[in-house]
Amino acid sequence: MTAQPNPLLPTEDQPSQRRPTPPQPVHGAPGPNAPGMNKLVTFELNGRPVSKMVDIRENLADFLRNEFGLTSVKKGCEVGECGACTVLIDGRAIDSCIYLAAWIDGKTVLTTEGLASPTGELSDVQQAFVDTTAVQCGFCTPGLLMTATELAATGQTYTREELRRRIAGHLCRCTGYENILNAVELALQKTQTRAAAAADEEFWNTVSGL
Ligand code: FES
Ligand code: FES
Repeated sequence: MTAQPNPLLPTEDQPSQRRPTPPQPVHGAPGPNAPGMNKLVTFELNGRPVSKMVDIRENLADFLRNEFGLTSVKKGCEVGECGACTVLIDGRAIDSCIYLAAWIDGKTVLTTEGLASPTGELSDVQQAFVDTTAVQCGFCTPGLLMTATELAATGQTYTREELRRRIAGHLCRCTGYENILNAVELALQKTQTRAAAAADEEFWNTVSGL
């Protein structure tokens, strides 16, 4: 009796559909050490000047994670949709997964690792997330902290609806959006209160020195 072919096994004509073909190397593509593929970038990272060679094709999220160990920079979608990789570049919240590391030359970068004071005191924004229990698994949190930090630095007040729109670029898979909004609101209040107290103190110091 002739053995019947198993219909579930791939044949030459019909390769298996169960596993996608792994990406094949592009023939002729230059490797990371090929001439012209690297660039020296000098920038300020969390308050410190740094210089490093970078592959000009590498994105900033990978560069920060792999070269500096800054794992607060999360990689979620890697196409600029989820906000998990957000860092501040010259004070602006940017999705670092779609930003080339080579572009960072001469700029300043702030990640969540740079938010706390040197003695470990949390920033007002970080403390607000703690106070409002706005963290569940925490994957989206560093990105949200950076956007909240950008908003707090403006010194402006926002309605809840405006804040909702401002953080719309962040996806929280734990769906804790209401607490996140509470946190961002509280962060802005805390920052404004601190700024007002500092301005008061400066005023009285000036007056008493007259
Ligand atoms: S990982 Fe960058 S936006 Fe999602
Ligand atoms: S807290 Fe889990 S993804 Fe937002």
